Amino acid sequence: MTAFSDIRFFPAVGSTNDVAATLPEGAVVVADEQTAGRGRRGHTWFSPPGSGLYVSVVLAPSRSVDPRRATSLTTIAAGVALADGIEAATGLRVRLKWPNDLYVARRKLGGILAEASESVVVGYGINIGEASYPPELRDRVTSLESELGRLPSRDDVLAETLAAMSARYDDLLAGRFDAILNGWRARANAAGLAVEWDGPNGRRSGRVVDIGDDGALLVKSGCAVERIVAAELTWL
Ligand code: BTN
Repeated sequence: MTAFSDIRFFPAVGSTNDVAATLPEGAVVVADEQTAGRGRRGHTWFSPPGSGLYVSVVLAPSRSVDPRRATSLTTIAAGVALADGIEAATGLRVRLKWPNDLYVARRKLGGILAEASESVVVGYGINIGEASYPPELRDRVTSLESELGRLPSRDDVLAETLAAMSARYDDLLAGRFDAILNGWRARANAAGLAVEWDGPNGRRSGRVVDIGDDGALLVKSGCAVERIVAAELTWL
C-alpha cells in the first residue's frame, strides 16, 4: 500500500496545491487556512481557518501499468476515495456529482481540484465545521457538522481520507480500473438522472447513461449518446 508518510502541516498558505507542486510523489500538504484557495473552473475555494480540511496529495499515475487510463481516472478515483474516507470517519454517506464533487442531498460538502505538471497534485477541500459562508454560498453548501449534528474530528477525517486515497491510488497503479468505476457508480447513483451542461454549441440536456472507461460522463440527449469530458453539470 502506498504510504503517505511525508505529511506537512501549515497554519496558513496561499493554496496547498501550490506547495504540493514543489514536492515529490507521496507528499501531503495540509493547511488550517488558505488565503488563495482555488476551486475548479476559476472559482475561489472559501478556506477560513479552523473549519475546513484543505489537503493536497502528490500522485504519479504515470507509474501505472496503464498510465494513460490511470491519468484520465485520477480525479474519479480521488472522488471515490473521499466518499469512502468520509463514510469511514463519520458514518455519513455522501453522493458524488460528476466528476468528483461531494454532495449531501443538493448541498456541496467538498470538492477536488487536480492539477497536472510532472506529477498530478490532487487537492481536496471538505467543509468540516459550520462557518460563516458568504451569502452566495450559504444555500448551496453544507458541512459535516451540519449533517451530523456534531463536530467530527478533523484529524479522523484527514486520516481516513488519506487511507482511502492511498488504497484508490494503488488501484490506479495496478490497473484495477473497474473497481474505481464501480465505486463511482455506487456512490453517484447517476444512471437515469436528468442533467444540463454547457456544450461547445450552447446549453444541452439529457439523461445520464453511465460513466465511460476514461471517466467521461455518457449522457443520452435526443437519439445520441454524448460524452462529456469537461463541463459543469447541473442536476435537474
Ligand atoms: C471545487 O470543487 O471547485 C474544487 C475545490 C478544491 C479545493 C481544494 S482545498 C485544497 C486544495 N487547494 C486549493 O487551492 N484547492 C484545493
